[in-house]
Amino acid sequence: MTIFARVAGTGSSLPDRILTNQELESMVDTSDEWIQSRTGISERRIAAEGETTCDLAEKASLDALDAAGVDPQDIDLVVLATTTPDQVFPSTACLLQERLKISNNSPAFDVQAVCSGFIYALDLANKFITGGNVKCALVVGAETFSRIIDWTDRNTCVLFGDGAGAVVLKADQESGITSSILHANGAYNRLLHVPHGVSKGFDRVQAGGAFTQMQGSEVFKFAVRALGDIVDEVLEKEGLSKNDIDWLVPHQANIRIISASAKRLGISLDKVIVTIERHGNTSAASVPLAFDEAVREGKIKRGQRVIMEALGGGFTWGAVLMVY
Ligand code: COA
Repeated sequence: MTIFARVAGTGSSLPDRILTNQELESMVDTSDEWIQSRTGISERRIAAEGETTCDLAEKASLDALDAAGVDPQDIDLVVLATTTPDQVFPSTACLLQERLKISNNSPAFDVQAVCSGFIYALDLANKFITGGNVKCALVVGAETFSRIIDWTDRNTCVLFGDGAGAVVLKADQESGITSSILHANGAYNRLLHVPHGVSKGFDRVQAGGAFTQMQGSEVFKFAVRALGDIVDEVLEKEGLSKNDIDWLVPHQANIRIISASAKRLGISLDKVIVTIERHGNTSAASVPLAFDEAVREGKIKRGQRVIMEALGGGFTWGAVLMVY
């Protein structure tokens, strides 16, 4: 008997504070026109002082549990994707487990694949479920990316935002995730990175100077190629054609990268879930945030075939194909 991991419920959460392009104009040498035309972003959310990744993850998870009609005690796996954990350790997944009062000693861990983190987390949770070890998993992408942004660097500060998205995955005999593909190539690590951390350049971290650095146009070119290729790869793996896809839920990094993916897939932008205008790039949260909004708006319906795809620092990239 085949077992699938099916999305039983989705949730998301955003900080209250909206940071507009107009406000950024007074912070760095940029313009609303430049940001909108190059990226498609007009505003993003920024976590309040003291508001953490786990706070955002908790709200998104409670939404997803509620939508799935699942009691937290029935969650037997928590996988949380983040690049901006609350603490060095324990993992934010463990902190979340405590917040949700999950006391059944089931495994909980973080995944670090930057903007592809949620795709990596979904793939892992899918393997736990289809392997028969887990019946009900909570998979979260949550970030306070604003904390690792240099707000004087116009190359990066206009792009990113904070948020969280979550799904409850349940073992199901009918349908669910049918394919997933993960890739990484560490040779590209310097194109998009925070070059300091715990065991390297910790003095910079302590001095408050450890921020995201990016070679934007190189990242752009790689993303367009890799995200196009991975859609073809996942379709080929499943023996499906482009016409079989109802929705594309791409990582929300740049509207021009999203448009290139849609073009490669041969689908119009109205079959692509786009939230970048209001969220910016929320890293590991971007795909589950967009997915939750589309489900709640009634766009993505039960039985429809959805491809999720993302690329992040590393580089890491991946795609998941599911019947929702
Ligand atoms: N406002 C105004 N000008 C800006 C700017 C800003 N916020 N940020 C950069 N610029 C300037 C640069 O300094 C550069 O100026 P110069 O030519 O005088 O040196 C110029 O704009 C770069 O222009 P261009 O090369 O045409 O930009 P672009 O079309 O490549 O767009 C990005 C820049 C960053 C929007 C684009 O490369 C991108 O989205 N890359 C991918 C980023 C990404 O997705 N990262 C996350 C992946 S998970």
